[in-house]
Amino acid sequence: MTGRLIVVDGIEGGGKTTHLAFIRACLERDGRSVIATREPGGTALGEAVRELLLGHRGEGMAPSTETLLMFAARAEHLERVIRPALASGQWVLCDRFTDATYAYQGGGRGLSPDKIALLETWVQEGLQPDLTLLFDLPVALGLARAGRRGAADRFERERQAFFERARSVYLERARRWPERYRIVDASRAPAEVRSEVEALLAGWLERLDG
Ligand code: TMP
Repeated sequence: MTGRLIVVDGIEGGGKTTHLAFIRACLERDGRSVIATREPGGTALGEAVRELLLGHRGEGMAPSTETLLMFAARAEHLERVIRPALASGQWVLCDRFTDATYAYQGGGRGLSPDKIALLETWVQEGLQPDLTLLFDLPVALGLARAGRRGAADRFERERQAFFERARSVYLERARRWPERYRIVDASRAPAEVRSEVEALLAGWLERLDG
């Protein structure tokens, strides 16, 4: 029996990383063995690439370079962590995945989605998340929340328009594949978001087992 890949994604400030621990607990309560991981990152090499991507050394990086680095980290992550875990029946809960590339490098930086799709086909060989929870909220609110968290990384320093484009791409993708995506209204208080996430997951798990 293979495991499932569940992704949480969305623009900055949606609280996805905070809610990840809660999602993990819900899945474990349901009897699943879960590993939690993140992108870019999730392996030693991937975390090193993450530092390049988010840190000051990446200043002025070309959008193609940025996209290739995202997929280099993803290839390593899939090969070393995600595929082996799924094959052994574990569930993988991943903080961001390829939707972030379409949103940030595609929407944000203006890279052609066709180029991203080429890399996606190459690196993922058909593997797609079983479920993506999109934590959606207005950009201004997300940035205000993220701003309270301290020093901004290379993406967090982008302007509001960059995140507006990224948010549109996320929403377009979620609406295009309603089977695979659930949109969570992340503008609300954490307790309300948690209840919605719990209900969404319970419904999804029920359908999966039924
Ligand atoms: P976060 O995981 O801490 O939110 O930060 C990762 C940053 O990297 C975030 O600003 C989004 C960005 N990112 C991309 O631009 N493309 C990608 O494919 C991924 C996975 C992340």
